[in-house]
Amino acid sequence: MKQVVISGTGLYTPPLSISNDELVAAFNAYVALYNERNAAAIESGELEPLLESSSEFIEKASGIKSRHVIDKNGILDPLRMYPYIPERGNEQLSVQAEMAVAAAREAMANAGKSAADIDAVIVACSNMQRPYPAMAIEIQNALGINGFGFDMNVACSSATFGIEQAANAVKAGTARCVLMVNPEICSGHLEFRDRDCHFIFGDVCTAVIVESADTATAAQRFEILGTRLATVFSNNIRNNFGFLNRCDEAGVGARDKLFVQEGRKVFKEVVPMVAEHIASHLQQNQLTPPQMKCFWLHQANLAMNLLIAKRLLGREAEPGEAPVILDEYANTSSAGSIIAFHKFHADLAAGDTGVICSFGAGYSVGSVIVRKL
Ligand code: COA
Repeated sequence: MKQVVISGTGLYTPPLSISNDELVAAFNAYVALYNERNAAAIESGELEPLLESSSEFIEKASGIKSRHVIDKNGILDPLRMYPYIPERGNEQLSVQAEMAVAAAREAMANAGKSAADIDAVIVACSNMQRPYPAMAIEIQNALGINGFGFDMNVACSSATFGIEQAANAVKAGTARCVLMVNPEICSGHLEFRDRDCHFIFGDVCTAVIVESADTATAAQRFEILGTRLATVFSNNIRNNFGFLNRCDEAGVGARDKLFVQEGRKVFKEVVPMVAEHIASHLQQNQLTPPQMKCFWLHQANLAMNLLIAKRLLGREAEPGEAPVILDEYANTSSAGSIIAFHKFHADLAAGDTGVICSFGAGYSVGSVIVRKL
């Protein structure tokens, strides 16, 4: 069987960032306005008053301290509460493609690859800014890559599912080298007026180069020892936005057309699912959790990641064993585990092994066991 490697990663971080305090100040201003405007209905018991948010709650419940975003002003305007991202003409590079091109260029430079070396582009993320033409084909065109491109969506697990598709293409010989990108503009699908979730997401893009070990020349090369994907249906994380929405006017703009979740249930159900998934994937490969140098986990909730690591290791994780980036980036959906891998892989020695694992809506879990060459 052909040996396949991850030979480069890239990261595009939007320059703008929102702290918890800034987010909470805007949210609480919105709450004050709402309660004032609806004072009579609240007084008569017809409406419930909105409750304020708090930075302390956000950091304690999630570990999130800030998030990078494409637009800050729109989100922090209490009269708007969503980003302002102007539409672009069809002749201009779209916003999502622009982020992807920036992350891709870094990944290609790290892998020592030019456009001519790459045969396929996969966009794997939670939200595409349009149904077609595929974002991947626009990115392929912008980078001057021949071959083919396609988009795929497995929500927060998209990146690991994308790595498996890339690795399979290389193994099958349908592509020599694949660029897999995760442009996530999560601020676009987040209800910033809902205190249960207004703090959860951030925007970012990651990129991964997957190729045959025979062609890889990068200093940092990670052999893919195995990939394992699993899905189990759940309504606990859901977004009903879609092309059929206009066919029932009653639902247009309703709360369920943005991200909704039952956070507590997700926490309780997904932690054991992920720990068992990783443990059995390692066992399948004659490996054990304590042998892993690093678990680059999906970044949704700090306590969740610490618990998964503890279940795997049978003890608290040492700093560096399950690196955290959600404090700065918040949940960036599919990109989270790849940001962690991108930022925390250089210190591993040749022969060291680790697991990239993403999980989320679906439910879905994807793990990629890697060994540094
Ligand atoms: N500020 C202050 N209080 C808040 C608040 C806010 N922004 N949001 C919620 N609260 C309140 C709730 O109303 C609730 O009050 P109550 O006890 O009086 O009913 C209390 O705080 C606890 O809320 P809850 O939603 O149960 O908090 P939690 O500890 O479960 O934390 C999450 C919420 C979302 C951070 C957490 O459940 C989580 O991260 N789950 C995993 C989600 C996940 O992995 N999703 C994958 C998405 S891709």
